[in-house]
Amino acid sequence: MRKGTRARRHEGTKGGRRRGVRVRWVLLLTAALVPVALATATEPAAVELTETDRRLLERHSPVPPLPPAPSNVVADDPAAAHLGQFLFFEQRFSANGEVSCATCHDPAQAFTDGRPRAQAIGDVPRHTITLLNTAHNRWFFWDGRRETLWSQALVPFEEPVEMGGSRLRIARVIAGDPALRAAYESVFGPAAILDDMASTVPLDARPVPGDAKHPHHVAWIAMSHADRDAVNRVFANVGKAIAAYERRLLSTQAPFDEFVAGVRAGDPERTAAIPPAAQRGWKLFAGRASCRLCHFGPLFTDGEFHSTGIGPEGGGPLNDPARYAGIPQVQASEFNARGAYSDARDGVKAKQVRSLRRSPEAWGQFKTPSLRNVARTPPYMHQGQLATLRDVVLHYSTLENAVLPDHHQEQLLVPLHLTDREIDDLVAFLESLSAADPAETLLKRPERPGLPKR
Ligand code: HEC
Ligand code: HEC
Repeated sequence: MRKGTRARRHEGTKGGRRRGVRVRWVLLLTAALVPVALATATEPAAVELTETDRRLLERHSPVPPLPPAPSNVVADDPAAAHLGQFLFFEQRFSANGEVSCATCHDPAQAFTDGRPRAQAIGDVPRHTITLLNTAHNRWFFWDGRRETLWSQALVPFEEPVEMGGSRLRIARVIAGDPALRAAYESVFGPAAILDDMASTVPLDARPVPGDAKHPHHVAWIAMSHADRDAVNRVFANVGKAIAAYERRLLSTQAPFDEFVAGVRAGDPERTAAIPPAAQRGWKLFAGRASCRLCHFGPLFTDGEFHSTGIGPEGGGPLNDPARYAGIPQVQASEFNARGAYSDARDGVKAKQVRSLRRSPEAWGQFKTPSLRNVARTPPYMHQGQLATLRDVVLHYSTLENAVLPDHHQEQLLVPLHLTDREIDDLVAFLESLSAADPAETLLKRPERPGLPKR
């Protein structure tokens, strides 16, 4: 049966309406002094695309402009983004003064750490996700436990195994650094809470749900309601500035996009931006391999959650409720889009939070990651269980050792029994989704927290 498929594909490369275009392409190559024999005999032919292929293709490129983020009024404010970039590299907010966001999201490694599971103050049980194009996401984290970029940024600061700090520590660092405070207040307005904060209160205070005796929790409860609210506001604003920076971390011009532009324009030179193997890989991805069922659209994700049968690191039964635990966390967060610190408490995001329902199927489901730049961010899956893209494709091909939750078989996954060449083709396609980094100036710590005065 597979033979038949290949035979049909072979025929497809000979006939069809795009033949004339390809003949002209060969002539073009000849004109460019490429020996005819090389162009016609050893150069594998480009893949023939049907009308349906082309329509599908066009739904996957280009990446559209970012959706607006009304819950964060400074989302597109340049001064906020500059401050956020400074804060992204700030180590003083962490418990040991050595960890920043960039420790795990290293700009030199496509904003990841290259490890299976992250490590900072302690061992993090999950794999670091790239920040390239992250602002396009609907949910954040592998379990989607936050729904806005700014509220996501607040989590690692207080996570004991990540940065181990607290919202009070952040406010105190800002209060004690005149340049940082000036930059903060020029974006968010005066914050009286930052006056005389340096010596009068403990260093760390934050709510610690489920541990009322924790010293950070005790210190938090001891503060007045008004002070807690004011510190929360500073904390939320720090998240909003960082989110404004993250919205600039776009990397969307991949060879694949050039290929699609070439197909649109009927320009064979541009379609040659990706090799024939990658073109065949696309057809498989969108066709028989059904990857597109979950990885669709310009970001190659449905933005939702699924079980792909990847068991926990080290083997054994599934032990991570993932999305099932993520949903109540979104709803409980005091920094969600419905809450007091949101700038659009009735916006789309707020409605999304309100209408969330948890079903038993959510147990053990992880977020479908975007596949843009995927070749730049090994290892793979929520605990970095798979080392290479080939390993990932092999997993989908055999579903060997797949561990699925008892209650629910993911209906979308069946073993694909891919041939070696098909596996290579899919990997070549995935590699064609790598794009350049954002501007150099966005990849390092700015000298000052404020924008230079003109
Ligand atoms: C100790 C390493 C570490 C540090 C420090 C860290 N992160 Fe992460 N980050 C991770 C890991 C691991 C995940 C995935 C965790 C999960 O899903 O549970 C993640 C997820 C994210 C995501 C979600 C991306 C997506 O597509 O869902 C964003 C955004 C992010 N981090 C931004 C930040 C920011 C901003 C900071 C600093 C305030 C930061 N991170 C600090 C390791 C880290
Ligand atoms: C049922 C939905 C679904 C289908 C179908 C599917 N994927 Fe995935 N994919 C996911 C989810 C969910 C994850 C994350 C799983 C995890 O971490 O446990 C993922 C992870 C990946 C990753 C790793 C990305 C990373 O950054 O870690 C790659 C690569 C990938 N898929 C490629 C493919 C290819 C190629 C196909 C087709 C052969 C495919 N997927 C089919 C849902 C799907």
